[in-house]
Amino acid sequence: MIARLLNDRSFSYGDFDAHDGLWEMAERTRGDVLERMALVPRVMEARGLDATPPIQAKLRQVGDQPAVDVLDVILREEVRHVALGNRWYEWLCSQRGVEPHAFFRETMRKHRAPKLRGQINRPARIAAGFTNEELDSLLQA
Ligand SMILES: [Fe+2]
Repeated sequence: MIARLLNDRSFSYGDFDAHDGLWEMAERTRGDVLERMALVPRVMEARGLDATPPIQAKLRQVGDQPAVDVLDVILREEVRHVALGNRWYEWLCSQRGVEPHAFFRETMRKHRAPKLRGQINRPARIAAGFTNEELDSLLQA
């Protein structure tokens, strides 16, 4: 979908620089599936939930509805990725007898994960399994 959008605008995938934060975090957490579940879906992918609506607002301002629609699809799918991450994170925590919130904070510090800041997409995060209580607590950390 992204490749098609770019092609319609005379660009190709790879023409623009992109950050590799998600991949970097996947590498940092390669030694432990629980750390991976804590930080890849619940931090990095969840940041995508927050970042998408402001990007869509800019695209709407310039009248690029096809791009807004593509990001709608990606946002919907991303909610599911984060929800799956939350589910497996909870499951792994219970398997190991680990307290999820404390382990999450500790793992965030250990791998220097970006903190939750600014405008969050609360409805999408709630749909993905976060609780208001956890979000409020993470925003204050
Ligand atoms: Fe994803």
